[in-house]
Amino acid sequence: MTKVAVVGAGPSGLAALRAFQSAKKKGAKIPEVVCFEKQDDWGGLWKYTWRTGLDEFGEPVHCSMYRYLWSNGPKECLEFADYTFEEHFGKPIPSYPPRAVLWDYIVGRVKKAGVRKWIRFNTPVRMVEYDKKKKKFSVTSHDRVKDVMKTEEFDYVICASGHFSTPNVPFFPGLDTFNGRVLHAHDFRDALEFKGKDILIVGRSYSAEDIGSQCWKYGAKSVTTTYRSKPMGFNWPKNFEEHPLLQKVEGKTAYFKDGSKKDVDAIILCTGYQHHFPYLPEDLRLKTANRLWPENLYKGVVWQDNPRFFYIGMQDQFYTFNMFDAQAWYVRDIILGRIKLPKADAMKKDWKKWLRREKKLENAEQMIWFQGDYVKELIEATDYPTFDIEGVNRTFMDWEHHKMDDIMGFRNNAYKSLMTGTMSPKHHTPWKDALDDSLETYLANK
Ligand SMILES: Cc1cc2nc3c(=O)[nH]c(=O)nc-3n(C[C@H](O)[C@H](O)[C@H](O)COP(=O)(O)OP(=O)(O)OC[C@H]3O[C@@H](n4cnc5c(N)ncnc54)[C@H](O)[C@@H]3O)c2cc1C
Ligand SMILES: NC(=O)c1ccc[n+]([C@@H]2O[C@H](COP(=O)([O-])OP(=O)(O)OC[C@H]3O[C@@H](n4cnc5c(N)ncnc54)[C@H](OP(=O)(O)O)[C@@H]3O)[C@@H](O)[C@H]2O)c1
Repeated sequence: MTKVAVVGAGPSGLAALRAFQSAKKKGAKIPEVVCFEKQDDWGGLWKYTWRTGLDEFGEPVHCSMYRYLWSNGPKECLEFADYTFEEHFGKPIPSYPPRAVLWDYIVGRVKKAGVRKWIRFNTPVRMVEYDKKKKKFSVTSHDRVKDVMKTEEFDYVICASGHFSTPNVPFFPGLDTFNGRVLHAHDFRDALEFKGKDILIVGRSYSAEDIGSQCWKYGAKSVTTTYRSKPMGFNWPKNFEEHPLLQKVEGKTAYFKDGSKKDVDAIILCTGYQHHFPYLPEDLRLKTANRLWPENLYKGVVWQDNPRFFYIGMQDQFYTFNMFDAQAWYVRDIILGRIKLPKADAMKKDWKKWLRREKKLENAEQMIWFQGDYVKELIEATDYPTFDIEGVNRTFMDWEHHKMDDIMGFRNNAYKSLMTGTMSPKHHTPWKDALDDSLETYLANK
């Protein structure tokens, strides 16, 4: 029997499991699917842990999420086309759910699909190798509970281990003698640690924006951000400052490129993540920056040099859950023989065309339409339920404008579901005042 290995049971890996299960439900004969998951439960980054550094088995902690994290984009843009929020919660819910609510939603679909039995938890993949003669992969995994390693053969491998977990940590002179706490966003857990403190955030992207906003919400005395390329430029509250790049730290004083300085208690490096695949050999390993079109991936998923090896979710992301679904259904259909791959040179020509377009993108609006076009192309090729992608793009546009209008209030807006057409209710409490982010409190919407 054909065997497929899936590495990771986060939203991307779970999309792959759901794709195969949905084909089976419609009567298709599917391969044996084995999903290896390093953590003790599913949901990927959405599975919160208080742990940082190494876990109980000495494995690097995967989680980069923190307490009080709410969706940073409208849930209407990430909704599964085959499992709506309304189906899961039994009623329409507001548009920017906290982490626990989104985790519940992700898990609800795969519980219903009954695919948990395909997953081996606490089992990181240690190595994948391809035997050209046999046309088989050998996958070595480590059951951490039994402390047993074993190697098994597979016909296909889907790499879905995520790329927002291994931090990118630059050095700034004086960090090694700074008289306060220095941490990367990956290790940030509870904003209350910084209540009453002056904090410095390095970076200008989503982690910088959201961790800065969180610390403000939970009572930081001041938030200073420092950028390499350009300021975030939001309408920040009074106790926020934005400065060009940090040059050095002396004692507790941070010095910036514009000659200004600021005394701070803690420095949080929101400087992004690395695509890191310690379990992959040179010939299978994707090497890329965080971008919308990583090279060497036909249709963003098929590994150019070995089309039996696939990646899901390796792009920088405006679209998330429904893009992973689009990718998973596409990969599934290649494996099931429903989609025929062109010859190597035609695959290369195709992804290079997307790459050329990506390189010309100038702003977030163009990037969103680019990723929307990509999702549309994949969905048209499979039986994944089609949905109003232009409507999703327009919702992203509204979201961008709402952020520019009011960075601490954009999460108070509500949008229409592109799957059901239902208008979402407004949340009962403005985001800045909603300190309790539990699922029960959030769903207690009138
Ligand atoms: C702080 C933060 C906040 C975010 N907030 C949002 C948001 O609000 N909305 C949104 O849509 N997206 C958000 N994202 C984007 C996020 O990337 C996606 O939502 C989603 O989690 C990606 O799913 P994934 O399955 O590709 O990767 P992940 O969620 O990272 O899952 C990968 C899985 O692979 C497992 N794994 C890793 N290595 C191995 C191995 N060797 N063997 C076995 N298993 C392995 C991991 O344990 C993990 O379970 C956020 C990301 C971060 C970092
Ligand atoms: N739900 C939420 O609210 C939430 C919160 C946090 C993160 N996220 C998600 O997490 C993902 C990752 O976001 P991210 O912000 O961590 O990573 P990112 O989007 O890849 O951004 C990395 C940032 O690091 C900066 N940087 C890198 N090296 C630097 C250096 N040497 N000096 C100064 N700055 C440096 C970059 O600066 P330049 O831009 O100048 O190059 C950029 O601003 C995104 O998908 C995001 O949506 C979501």
